[in-house]
Amino acid sequence: MIKKENNQTIWNIRIKKKTSLLYKKIGNSIDVDKRLYQEDIQGSIAHVEMLFKQKIISFKIKNKIIYGLNKIKKEILNQKFKFDRKYEDIHMSIENRLFQIIGEEAGYVHTARSRNDQVITDFKIWMKSATNEINKELDKIIKRTLKIAEKNIETIMPGFTHLKNAQAISFAHYLMAYVEIFNRDKKRFSNNLENLNENPLGVAALSGTSFNIDRNYTSKKLGFKTPTNNSIDTVSDRDFVLDFLYSSSVCSMHISRISEELIIWSSDGFNIINLSDKIVTGSSIMPQKKNPDLLEYLRGKSGLMYGNLFSMLTILKGLPLSYFKDLQDDKEIIFKSFDTLINCLKIFEEVLINFSPNKKKMLELANHGFITATDLADYLVKNHSMSFRKAYQKTAEIVNFAEKRKKRLDELSIQELQKIEPKLSNDVLKIFNLKNSINSKKSYGGTAFDNIKKMIVKYKNKL
Ligand code: ARG
Repeated sequence: MIKKENNQTIWNIRIKKKTSLLYKKIGNSIDVDKRLYQEDIQGSIAHVEMLFKQKIISFKIKNKIIYGLNKIKKEILNQKFKFDRKYEDIHMSIENRLFQIIGEEAGYVHTARSRNDQVITDFKIWMKSATNEINKELDKIIKRTLKIAEKNIETIMPGFTHLKNAQAISFAHYLMAYVEIFNRDKKRFSNNLENLNENPLGVAALSGTSFNIDRNYTSKKLGFKTPTNNSIDTVSDRDFVLDFLYSSSVCSMHISRISEELIIWSSDGFNIINLSDKIVTGSSIMPQKKNPDLLEYLRGKSGLMYGNLFSMLTILKGLPLSYFKDLQDDKEIIFKSFDTLINCLKIFEEVLINFSPNKKKMLELANHGFITATDLADYLVKNHSMSFRKAYQKTAEIVNFAEKRKKRLDELSIQELQKIEPKLSNDVLKIFNLKNSINSKKSYGGTAFDNIKKMIVKYKNKL
């Protein structure tokens, strides 16, 4: 067996000259991938247990290696482990330390594996728990949103298209739209688990191994469903990285859209929601200011998330199979996206806790912009057997009339209405009531109060 001296790279027999100092400084990834130490140790323990079961290494060596690995884990946990950049990455650092602790028998740990399968095994294990962590945060947001919705079923506001008042809606209906959005994000992240559940360990450098390994055994030990099917694809594949970055980008885009909406709503022009002092900051010159900085932070972060997705797509573009050093950057990108998204989700929850609807202003705004016009058109169709297009034109005439007289639709008298449509009778007036308007939208998915109540119950039972 080759003796491995301390302070020497494992390839010093083959590669005689020392690596360029500059490259040594920048080519290592330990500062980033040390975050995978737990997964790396977990993977190595499963690997040596399998090697022993398959009679590839002895009982004694297996135990020695596991003892050493557990010791290393403790050292890292207690911050006693010295991460040295000269060992390149977390895999080499742990292997090197294993030699220091148990001596030459550490040399058996890398039997029938390569860093190429080791790194993606670690990474996939990490990403599975990261996915679950994100989904837990999304659950918290959904729960919080449901609570606010429950309290606001009868809070009336204008729904917007083109940011212009469109039709009356319940504020809770708006909030339940957010619930749909975050529920889809959860599904998107969960869908990624299928690919993440294929175990790369054992494909070695790229072609598999001549040792009689049992990949089903390590799959089970490490919580994967099955081993991957093709060794070349396995070490080349970073689709699971893209999936995670895409899902994270979409989720942060959602947070960005909602943040922008809340910024508009809290602006002096709209003023239909209040942000508590906990989620605003001041100005260095204007003493009166309360700015929605947290929401702006959330709106902006999607830029970083898209950037990360595009970085990875670009790294992979044109990269032949199988492993290349180019791939090493995947971890930095993912960790950045994950940390950013988790922060955004937590901040967004803070926002939900610290904002409230300005119900009076919402109602006031809903009384502007003739938002019951569609209700009137529908009424004409149902009660005066007009085609919808005809009713639409009649209603437009009535809106023009009201606008000219500077009146709201509900301020028009029946006589005024009859000037334009003589068939109209008194009972048309109830059409202009906002509550009636909302409750008439009973179609599945519509804003009627009863619909919202049922949907809230449905989601509450789901969580
Ligand atoms: N630190 C490396 C990475 O993250 C591990 C794999 C190294 N494999 C190699 N053949 N150089 O990609």
